[in-house]
Amino acid sequence: MRKKLIIIDLDGVITSTTDEHFSAWVLLFKKYFGIRLDSNLETYVKGVSRIKSLEILLEKSGIQVESQKIINKMAQEKNKIYRELISDFNETRLMPGVVRFLEYLRNKGLKIALGSASKNGTFLLDKLKIESFFDFIVDPSLLKSKPHPDIFLTAMNHFDLEPEECIGIEDAISGVEAIKKANMYAIGIGPEKLDRADWQIKDLSHMDYEKLEEIVEGAND
Ligand code: BG6
Ligand code: MG
Repeated sequence: MRKKLIIIDLDGVITSTTDEHFSAWVLLFKKYFGIRLDSNLETYVKGVSRIKSLEILLEKSGIQVESQKIINKMAQEKNKIYRELISDFNETRLMPGVVRFLEYLRNKGLKIALGSASKNGTFLLDKLKIESFFDFIVDPSLLKSKPHPDIFLTAMNHFDLEPEECIGIEDAISGVEAIKKANMYAIGIGPEKLDRADWQIKDLSHMDYEKLEEIVEGAND
């Protein structure tokens, strides 16, 4: 079937905020507990929601915080630090090939949605100067995190479409799993081996536009 919507992940596909997210956690843990978070912990919080990330980092550090109020306060403070760290982001922070890819999709008449676990999606798209390409930004606040398909299904339902009409694009195993659970075509991006992706490329500058055209047109269905 011809594709009408593409749902794009943010971190690792459009830009990279991994260092900024983790640096914000490092600064927060230093302030609250005087400890230095080990950089190996980053893999546990990639693509994971803000509160869940905090819970994981506390657990891995052997710290118990009983009060939900303090947990919420810490998460809020982490976001403040994170926002400061990304305050000077601009179009130079776009990953290679992003703008050409978005232009292609727009010219093909596809709807473009952002499907990120981050509540800073709009803020970042604005900083990266690509917000105008997006027809819909999924609000992850009340949705189940990837690998649950909620984020992808929410975008699909917004446009009243069927899974066969949608493409999801992701760099993380849990993200690809979420796309496949939503029964959509999954494009994987990046160096990590994404076994469940229908097609994987290194980054968007390596996009094979002939092959993409076939997928968009549903030529191989
Ligand atoms: C993901 C990041 O994209 O978004 C995670 O990989 C982050 O590290 C999550 O915790 C939530 O982001 P935010 O911006 O809502 O705190
Ligand atoms: Mg990602």
